[in-house]
Amino acid sequence: MPKKFTFTVNGQRVEVDAEADMPLLWVLRDKLGVTGPKYGCGVGVCRACTSHLDGEEIQPCTVPVSECDSRKVTTIEGLADGGALHPVQQAWVDADVSQCGFCQPGQIMAAVALLKRTPEPTDADIEAIENMCRCGTYPRMRIAIQAAAAMMDRPGQKKSKEPKRQDASQQSGAEAEATEPPASRPTTQAPKPTEQKQPEDDESLIGSLFD
Ligand code: FES
Ligand code: FES
Repeated sequence: MPKKFTFTVNGQRVEVDAEADMPLLWVLRDKLGVTGPKYGCGVGVCRACTSHLDGEEIQPCTVPVSECDSRKVTTIEGLADGGALHPVQQAWVDADVSQCGFCQPGQIMAAVALLKRTPEPTDADIEAIENMCRCGTYPRMRIAIQAAAAMMDRPGQKKSKEPKRQDASQQSGAEAEATEPPASRPTTQAPKPTEQKQPEDDESLIGSLFD
């Protein structure tokens, strides 16, 4: 029997009538029209739906809505601060990470969670992110995460505003080879970007592709 659940989604209080065991992903996409979190596998494997619950990374396809009552859900739509992109989103744009875009909202939310846990991640930390990308954008995601880490100021820690990143298009052959994805992931090598996206294209990173 449906019950009423009240929680916050991207800063807005919402009330939904749903079965207690309905996955949060269904509630977000089908009841609330929040389509940034993508439906891939539905069983917590692909991580295309990655979002945050009270600031912690979750896969909403595996979280029943009853667990969200009185809590705060953040999806890719709630990451930017008004008109200002989150540093991870900005780094994604700068590194021209996205290809088809389907996995990217979840990738960005996973990267934000990683940088919250580990402000200065190693390559191994970044490779431990389990989100899948069929387009093989792993090398550019690594560049973007390292750039975002350099951009983000931390309390009691001074960081350069200029990220020490290297654009994928500027990598030497040896460096490009060194950024190949781990063997456990799809091995398709992402092509080098040939042109910088225009600002309007960046909307695709905010989570509305493939609604
Ligand atoms: S849809 Fe695949 S982990 Fe949620
Ligand atoms: S950009 Fe296409 S699946 Fe990741």
